[in-house]
This record gives sequence, structure tokens and C-alpha cells, in this order.
Amino acid sequence: MTATLIPLAVPNLSGNEAKYLQECIDSGFVSSVGPFVSRFEQRIAQAAGSPYAVATASGTAGLHVALVALGVKPGDLVVVPSLTFIATANAVSYCGAQPWLVDCDPDTWNLDCGLLEQILTEECDFCCGRLTQKKTGQRIAAIMPVHTLGTPADMDRILPLAQKFGLPVVADAAAALGAQYHGRNVGDLGADLTVFSFNGNKTITCGGGGAVVGSHKELLQHVRHLSTTARRGEGYDHDHIGFNYRLTNIQAAVGCAQLERLDHLVARKQKIRETYRRAFHDLEAVTLFPQSLQGQSADWFSGIVLKNPSLTVTTELRTFLRQQGIESKPFWKPLHLQDPYRNVPTTRQTVSEELWFRIVVLPCSTTITEEELQHVVTEVRRGLQRLE
Ligand SMILES: Cc1ncc(COP(=O)(O)O)c(C=O)c1O
Repeated sequence: MTATLIPLAVPNLSGNEAKYLQECIDSGFVSSVGPFVSRFEQRIAQAAGSPYAVATASGTAGLHVALVALGVKPGDLVVVPSLTFIATANAVSYCGAQPWLVDCDPDTWNLDCGLLEQILTEECDFCCGRLTQKKTGQRIAAIMPVHTLGTPADMDRILPLAQKFGLPVVADAAAALGAQYHGRNVGDLGADLTVFSFNGNKTITCGGGGAVVGSHKELLQHVRHLSTTARRGEGYDHDHIGFNYRLTNIQAAVGCAQLERLDHLVARKQKIRETYRRAFHDLEAVTLFPQSLQGQSADWFSGIVLKNPSLTVTTELRTFLRQQGIESKPFWKPLHLQDPYRNVPTTRQTVSEELWFRIVVLPCSTTITEEELQHVVTEVRRGLQRLE
């Protein structure tokens, strides 16, 4: 049965990937120095709408080094949505800081900007350019919105708050390459640094990898320096405790081939989402994944949200789909419900707590055929009928 499953999200490696990998082997450039790394950085910057890009070993590494470069220190608080992949908060923890978890908006699944405003204005003191949490005296060091599922967070509301309180913004755009907000590309939305992931299940993959983009030349140079063990010159002279966070030429070779088809791959994702929207919009039992109100989502994942508030029902549907040869997946469990983050500061979490276990991610590989999509649609409808 497993061998015939329609997979959830597999990489599409049908372009120049093998050819470029062979070039790495032929040239001997397999480490983090090599022509594909520079080419990848140029192409990412272009695709993100950002002047500068630094390729990193993973999205998590990119988030971590971005926070370090922006001065996040042990004991600080960083505002993070609770409905995110754990890597967002882990990057904060790697700095010795703590995430302050904010609930998500029910319509977009992104950071709830009303709550963000509330905690910054009512639960913090702003004095001498420094924002501190009233209760603990901890400094607020940054805001980390996540462009959930590739749908841009509401930067129109986040940026003025960040500016008002002098907070840097690191946008976790892990799956958002190709998205737009008010017609602008996702690396050009005003965050100090924006971070992408090129993990195997992303629309564009390097196998593993990430990138940090931004428009402040010196800041991006600092990110590059920190990612390369903070080494000065050619000798073994280091001026910070840096990281070995660079992408390799092999990974970048795959990434370059992928980026040649960025528009096509994102368009495929958007088409899959549209297929599910048309197929399920009439169903009483479900709602659909959120759409961007101010632009175009990159539609990394597609699926449905069951109205029935029961994890058992969601699991039953997923078991039924598996029996019909269809892989599906739950979505992120909010971080305040996860062991490492049970005791960090959090807002009320009514939306994330009531939402996460009803989400079913459906097959959305860019290689999925029309026939497979129709099979998924038919079986989801059948599965829902059985649960009625
Ligand atoms: C929202 C989010 N942030 C961060 C990451 C981490 O990226 P990586 O797996 O490349 O470290 C991911 C990866 O799935 C993600 O979805």
C-alpha cells in the first residue's frame, strides 16, 4: 500500500539538477566555496526582491544567525507566533532568549496583529528606546512574523509597531518564496532580515538549505561573516564566536536548477490549491486554507480544515485516505503545547488551540497528476460522507 501512496509533497527534480550536480563533481567544488553558491545567492536575491542574499545550511541556521546579527542576547524575549514550525522558536532559544508566543489570526493563520499591539503597548514599558516586559523586566529584542504556508503576514500592521518600539523584524519566510504582498516580492516587505528554507518538502529545495535576504549591506555582510565562522582573511583569525552555517556548492547546484523553474513550480502549487478550493467549497463539513488578503500566497501546502472539533475525526479521515492510497498530514501543533515551550510567556491561544488539530494537509507535490488530484478529491468527499 505504502509504495502506491500519492505522496504529500515530494521534490520536483526534473530540470538541470543532475547536470549541475555532475558539474560539481567534475570541478571538485563540493564545499561551501564554489560558483553555484554565488549564483544561487544572486538568484535568490532577485526572486525575493531583495538586494542582498546569504545562503545558509538550513532555514533554521538562517533564522539563528539573523537573530544573532540583530543583537538578540541571552535573557531577551522575541515575539513569535505559536502556530509555527518549532524551528522559529528554536532559533530564539539558541540565542539564550525566550519566545513570547502570540496567537494567530483566524482568517490568515498568521500572527494576530491586534494581540501583538496589545502586548507591546499594555504589557510592556517603553523607556529610553528600550522595550521591556512589565512582569519580568526582560527586554523585547525582535519580532518574528511567519509567512505561514507562504501567505505573507500583515506587514502593514507589524512594521509600524516595530518602528514605534525600535524593534528589528526577522520574517520567517521559510515556504514563501514566490509570494507577493501588495504586488511586492516577499523579501521586499520591510523586514530587517527575511529567511527562507530550502528543505526537501519546500516548493524550491536544495535537499537542505536556507537563505537570509535583506537590504542593509553591512547587516548582510555581518550575517555572511557570522555564518562563515567569523573568519577574518585567509588565516585562522576569528573575531566572533561564529557558525559553520554556509550552504555547500552541491546544495546550491540543486537550488540553482530549481530556481530556473520557480515561476512554474509556484504556479503549480497555486493551481493545486485552486483545484481543492473548487472541489470542496460547497462542503458543509469543511473550510479551506486561508487566502492572502493583500496579495498572492505561494501556497506551499493545500488542504482542508474540518469543522468537527475532534482530533479523533481528523485522524479517522486521514486513516481512510491512507487506505485509499493517499498520504495526508496534520499541521503544526502550537508551540505553547510543546514540552520545550510550555513555560514561556504566551498570549491567549484560543484560535491556535481550536484550529491546529482540525487541519488536514492533502497531497500537493508539483508533480501530482490531474488524475491523482481527482482521486484525492473523490476520496476526501467519500471519507467525509462516511464520517457524517
Ligand atoms: C515556518 C518554518 N520555519 C523554519 C523552518 C526551518 O527550516 P529548515 O528545515 O530549512 O531548517 C521551516 C521548515 O520546515 C518552517 O516551515
